[in-house]
Amino acid sequence: MNKLSLVSVITVLMVVQSQARMPCKEPAQWKAMGFDRDNKAKMKSRFEISYDALKQRVRKVGIEQIGSKSDYVELIQLFNEKTEYRFSDTTKTCEKKALNQEWSDFSIPKNATFYGDFYIGASELKDSSVLVSSWVDNVNLGGQKYELLALFTVNNCVPVSVYLDNDEHDYQVHFFNVSAKGLSDTDFSLPQECLIL
Ligand SMILES: *[C@@H]1O[C@H](CO)[C@@H](O)[C@H](O)[C@H]1NC(C)=O
Ligand SMILES: *[C@@H]1O[C@H](CO)[C@@H](O)[C@H](O)[C@H]1NC(C)=O
Repeated sequence: MNKLSLVSVITVLMVVQSQARMPCKEPAQWKAMGFDRDNKAKMKSRFEISYDALKQRVRKVGIEQIGSKSDYVELIQLFNEKTEYRFSDTTKTCEKKALNQEWSDFSIPKNATFYGDFYIGASELKDSSVLVSSWVDNVNLGGQKYELLALFTVNNCVPVSVYLDNDEHDYQVHFFNVSAKGLSDTDFSLPQECLIL
């Protein structure tokens, strides 16, 4: 085989391989428990999240710690209405704000590079593991560049963990007990204090 055809065979193999693993598509609606933290930005939280890509809305309820302050917060972001509500349990007040970001799906970036599949847990022991695929990319979020590492389950593309790193942030989020049964408007109903705004 001459050099040129070897190169083209390798190129074809690489193309075939990269086409073989396109990022999977996560469920459009799900609910989960989440833990996140960013040590460089001195924040951490644990929350319940409801995610709805169909109606472009997110609700997060839980304990948020920023610096030495912590609060129990309910955050509802309605991207279709470009509105965000934030209810603080400490002050019992709701804040309504314009939401200027565009909706973006919580998904593996289309251009992400497949990094490999691996088991979390012990694959040879019964019901003791989950097979995840890992993806890396450089992403632009809110005007900042990050290195991204994302782990999603191989079956059904359920989000597991996402890491975002740059000089100022080492953000990581982990999801548990994901339920992808479908959500309704009641999953996004506003706290009483927000209704009057
Ligand atoms: C994905 O890659 C293509 C081709 O290199 C490029 O044109 C496009 O801008 C990239 N998209 C993102 C979101 O980086
Ligand atoms: C996850 O689900 C298990 C089994 O239903 C439950 O015992 C556990 O408390 C849940 N964990 C969280 C963080 O909600």
